[in-house]
Amino acid sequence: MHVQWYPGHMTKAKRMMESDIKLIDVVIELVDARIPLSSKNPDIDGLARNKSRVLLLNKYDLADEGCNTAWKDYFEEKGFFTALVNSKTGQGVKAVHQVIQRACKEKVERDRKRGILNRPVRGMIVGIPNVGKSTFINSFAGKACTKTGNRPGVTKGKQWIRLNKDVELLDTPGILWPKLDDESVGTRLAFIGSVKDELLQNVELSLELLHHLRGKYAKLAPSHYQIEDEGDEVKLLEAIAIRRACKKKGDVPDLEKAAAILLDDYRNGRLGRITLEYP
Ligand code: G4P
Repeated sequence: MHVQWYPGHMTKAKRMMESDIKLIDVVIELVDARIPLSSKNPDIDGLARNKSRVLLLNKYDLADEGCNTAWKDYFEEKGFFTALVNSKTGQGVKAVHQVIQRACKEKVERDRKRGILNRPVRGMIVGIPNVGKSTFINSFAGKACTKTGNRPGVTKGKQWIRLNKDVELLDTPGILWPKLDDESVGTRLAFIGSVKDELLQNVELSLELLHHLRGKYAKLAPSHYQIEDEGDEVKLLEAIAIRRACKKKGDVPDLEKAAAILLDDYRNGRLGRITLEYP
């Protein structure tokens, strides 16, 4: 998936988010559990100041279990209320209700003291493209929810999804752009498939991925493809090509095809649960 961000897009998205954020109590931010920092836009911290913060480590099914716990602790320490979520299957999604209530506890107390009772807290889902926002909203809101239309005090056209008596969700997520200043951030986003990888770059990208896997996950690719690791990424990719019968004219291993297979296997968790960034 490729998202090209132009300065105009960014300014518009930021302005939209600034106005939407005024309407809500809690920012529910999604990051990819495999690269929680690279998939998090730091600008949101400024935009969401004074709001309750929930951070969901989505796609936790694809990330290393030990790292998931470490990242959860890391973000809790920074003041976020967190949860591990698999939006695709719905695992961990129900528990997000309690996390939101915990995050908004002070606000609800304040309301109560001022005599405002039973007002649902309002939340908004935000995150960079492809992190799973739509999948999460579908899973979280389910079929039972009711949409509430335009209401006084709410910008015309805003749709709220009433989840239950306690929570309302803005139906359109806030899209943030990834922060690509640092080259390694771009590479990690390419590993998970969030920025475009040209066919030509696939080989380079998969060699980088194999390099990354060395160390903690050194055995995963060799065992998945049933090949030997001779300590060289190019040879490893060649071995994958041979094992998967990817050949070019003259029986030359087709590294491009092998690279596409490797990246697809990584992105879909077929190599195992692999985190590429540690707290
Ligand atoms: P976005 O709105 O933030 O752009 O993301 P979206 O929901 O479209 O999700 C992007 C991709 O991530 C989708 O895959 C979706 O199924 C997948 N996904 C979302 N949450 C999870 C999760 O918790 N675990 C896993 N394993 N995958 C998740 P896709 O390939 O684009 O579509 P599909 O083939 O799944 O239909």
